[in-house]
Amino acid sequence: MGSSRLPILLSCCSLLLSFATLTLSAEDPYFECRYAEENKGNFTDKSTYQSNLNDIISQLSNLTDFNYGFHNLSAGGNPDKVFATALCAGDKTPNECRTCFNYTITKLIDRCPWGKEVVAWSQFCMVRYANRDIFAQLDSDPRTCAYNPTNASNPDVFNLALSNLLTNLSDEASTGGALRKYAADNTTDDPQQMIFAAVQCTPDLNQENCSLCLNFAMSELSKCCAGRLGCRVLRPSCVLRFETGSFFNLTAVVPLPSPPPSSTPSPPPPPPSTSATIGG
Ligand SMILES: *[C@@H]1O[C@H](CO)[C@@H](O)[C@H](O)[C@H]1NC(C)=O
Ligand SMILES: *[C@@H]1O[C@H](CO)[C@@H](O)[C@H](O)[C@H]1NC(C)=O
Ligand SMILES: *[C@@H]1O[C@H](CO)[C@@H](O)[C@H](O)[C@H]1NC(C)=O
Ligand SMILES: *[C@@H]1O[C@H](CO)[C@@H](O)[C@H](O)[C@H]1NC(C)=O
Ligand SMILES: *[C@@H]1O[C@H](CO)[C@@H](O)[C@H](O)[C@H]1NC(C)=O
Ligand SMILES: *[C@@H]1O[C@H](CO)[C@@H](O)[C@H](O)[C@H]1NC(C)=O
Ligand SMILES: *[C@@H]1O[C@H](CO)[C@@H](O)[C@H](O)[C@H]1NC(C)=O
Ligand SMILES: *[C@@H]1O[C@H](CO)[C@@H](O)[C@H](O)[C@H]1NC(C)=O
Ligand SMILES: *[C@@H]1O[C@H](CO)[C@@H](O)[C@H](O)[C@H]1NC(C)=O
Repeated sequence: MGSSRLPILLSCCSLLLSFATLTLSAEDPYFECRYAEENKGNFTDKSTYQSNLNDIISQLSNLTDFNYGFHNLSAGGNPDKVFATALCAGDKTPNECRTCFNYTITKLIDRCPWGKEVVAWSQFCMVRYANRDIFAQLDSDPRTCAYNPTNASNPDVFNLALSNLLTNLSDEASTGGALRKYAADNTTDDPQQMIFAAVQCTPDLNQENCSLCLNFAMSELSKCCAGRLGCRVLRPSCVLRFETGSFFNLTAVVPLPSPPPSSTPSPPPPPPSTSATIGG
């Protein structure tokens, strides 16, 4: 992307700044981490919690299975048990996901150290851990939002096309089943502006909670993302992103086993070696 937008940017006085930011939001390594709000507290150096977290880090840096990009991990026993989940975008290869998880957990520990409950989002994956069972929980905090500072030339037209697309994607993702809740597609607004969008819930959420999460995320379209040509809404249970350039590859999406599993809890089919995924 970028090259087709150059004429527009050239007319802008802050060319270098705009271009740098635009490029950054689409291509460069991206990272955000946040501590859970309602004070979950900090752990201390050499505590059992830290050692259990180190166990999680080593599990996550060393995943052998793919599991459609989602992992449910835990380490240790109460009261210092650490629960973790990791989610990779639905169009990424097992290797890309592994690299992303390792990058994200490494950076999380560096940038948001000592938190008992932290969420981190990077270019195309999310890692979170907590001192409580977070599996199948719809969580709204901590959350953040990151936007491309360029505004749509006609925000109303852009947002209408975008909302239509996101509504469809939200339906598709939330009905995706217990293994993967991901959807991505493109549309064009009236003056032929391409819009690419992707949404994803952690697949442990049921359909209703996924749909709720994505509805919350879409409410940012009139807030943090208002009128922007690109934006990421980052929540602990779902993520939403749109851009005017393509950032996903649907050809790479690994097909789910058929018939698709229902969204009611059921054991995943036996992929090779699930031992690293099912924590306990
Ligand atoms: C936890 O540690 C972080 C990073 O050192 C610090 O910013 C935060 O204030 C601490 N929170 C508490 C409750 O001590
Ligand atoms: C990573 O997994 C390999 C087997 O795939 C194992 O031999 C090694 O001990 C593991 N390393 C860690 C740090 O868990
Ligand atoms: C994980 O990231 C660390 C730090 O960047 C790096 O040293 C290590 O080699 C990576 N491990 C894997 C398995 O990619
Ligand atoms: C939906 O999320 C709420 C809040 O985390 C949770 O209590 C509830 O069990 C979830 N529903 C299902 C069916 O998983
Ligand atoms: C984009 O629009 C917002 C209001 O929606 C405004 O605050 C901001 O200054 C605009 N940014 C640019 C670069 O024009
Ligand atoms: C949304 O789905 C409806 C029904 O399948 C379809 O007619 C419409 O074109 C879709 N809109 C977008 C923007 O994808
Ligand atoms: C837009 O999506 C359609 C499928 O919905 C795909 O066939 C087409 O190649 C996509 N266009 C671009 C530019 O990626
Ligand atoms: C999309 O994914 C397919 C399948 O992995 C790959 O062959 C193709 O090169 C990818 N396309 C792009 C533009 O990365
Ligand atoms: C996910 O991990 C939690 C904590 O170990 C465990 O209670 C739960 O059964 C796991 N769920 C699945 C489906 O593996």
